[in-house]
Amino acid sequence: MANTEAHGRGNWNSTLGFVLAAAGSAVGLGNIWGFPSQVADNGGAIFILIYLICCFAIGLPVMIAELTIGRHTKKNPVGAFRMLGKGPLAPLIGVWGLICGVMILAFYLVVSGWTLAYVIEEILYYFGHRDLAAVVGNLEHGTKNAIFSVLFMLATITIITGGISNGIEKATKMLMPVLIGLLLIMIFYVLTLEGAMDGVRVYLMPDFSELNTGVVLSAMGQAFFSLSLGMGALITYGSYISKNQNIVQSATYVTLADIGIAFLAGFLIIPAMYVALSSGIDILDAEGNLVRGTQLVFIVLPEMFHNMGGLGLVAGVAFFTLLSLAALTSTISLLEVPVSYAIDEHRITRRKAAWGIGGGIAVLSVIVSYNINLIDVLVSVFNEIGLPLGGLMICIFLGYFWKTENALLEISKGYENVGESSFGAIWSFFIRYICPLLIGLVFISTIYSMLPWFG
Ligand code: PFF
Repeated sequence: MANTEAHGRGNWNSTLGFVLAAAGSAVGLGNIWGFPSQVADNGGAIFILIYLICCFAIGLPVMIAELTIGRHTKKNPVGAFRMLGKGPLAPLIGVWGLICGVMILAFYLVVSGWTLAYVIEEILYYFGHRDLAAVVGNLEHGTKNAIFSVLFMLATITIITGGISNGIEKATKMLMPVLIGLLLIMIFYVLTLEGAMDGVRVYLMPDFSELNTGVVLSAMGQAFFSLSLGMGALITYGSYISKNQNIVQSATYVTLADIGIAFLAGFLIIPAMYVALSSGIDILDAEGNLVRGTQLVFIVLPEMFHNMGGLGLVAGVAFFTLLSLAALTSTISLLEVPVSYAIDEHRITRRKAAWGIGGGIAVLSVIVSYNINLIDVLVSVFNEIGLPLGGLMICIFLGYFWKTENALLEISKGYENVGESSFGAIWSFFIRYICPLLIGLVFISTIYSMLPWFG
């Protein structure tokens, strides 16, 4: 086993192992950091409702598509499209995925590094080293960002070199339950604090006046990023699935786990904001909206933990450990895409591929660390345009070139008669018409909204 894992492709040991690994890829900073701030920004429960529709109408069908392509070809995204497509253009869909993965990982590592840095900051702060804690807590501090991104990459490489079942599957099987346990404990704790219920109200109260096309677009973009779709991560994970596994069922579990954890994270982050407010911390910007993104999680929450005294240390360390673990199971999947490409297409050993490619991406993350404004550019180009574009190409390729009939034949290996079922017909219709249409709309609107940015 160890030998095949080092030189060959490897496989998941069990369905549960695969579901946890794929859920680990999906559950990340996007759920705990991104989703709650998007909800707070976009009209509370109305955003949640639209997000759910996006996950089930676009996310789930595309996830099934990616897993099916992966399992059928048993290859990385580039090799998979080369095998299924006829012309020289098909592998470019995989190449695009690879580029997006590498660039997303370059900035994702920096934000993941912040989570790790905060664990250390909390400890330094409570032991009285406030100056040092301030350096570690400074999001703009290039050297600090570089050190923690590289550390995060080292942890990612260490797990990847272990292979599929011995590395990724084992690690995520251990990390995911810890993550869920920590999340639940944190929620119960935060909900007992003063002001928390105001946050719950804001979270669950739909504000219909906020409903506009921008909200729909944000929800779709968030669904793509959160479910790890559009760049071949799930083609890669799908390539390690055994033939008798029911892809539709597994994809549904992964989608539900991702949505469930994002929803739970909202019960932690938004109430925590209002706890911070009731302890005198400003959480509203000049226009009266909740501060968002980076500020919300990385500035307001540490301030709140500091105000809480001794228990704040435990809560702060637990919270940022939770974020680190969620980020780690996602960086693993982001790195696995180019690593599987190098193993399949260039016959490089897993160890060499992980260290070589991981090292290269770590250098990119050091560049981002010193030029922190690059994060916004990378998010715009590779998340907001790159992933929907990848998803669109995957749907068009599967729907019109490889054909949904062939995909259904592959799915039927673990789900008998899916070709004749109404599910099969609905899925085919979504892949050929609904998903390309909806994703195309997101894509065009995103580009359109960015035109002034391009100058
Ligand atoms: N799904 C991850 C998150 O929500 O943080 C991010 C991500 C991981 C995107 C892996 C894409 C990917 F391939």
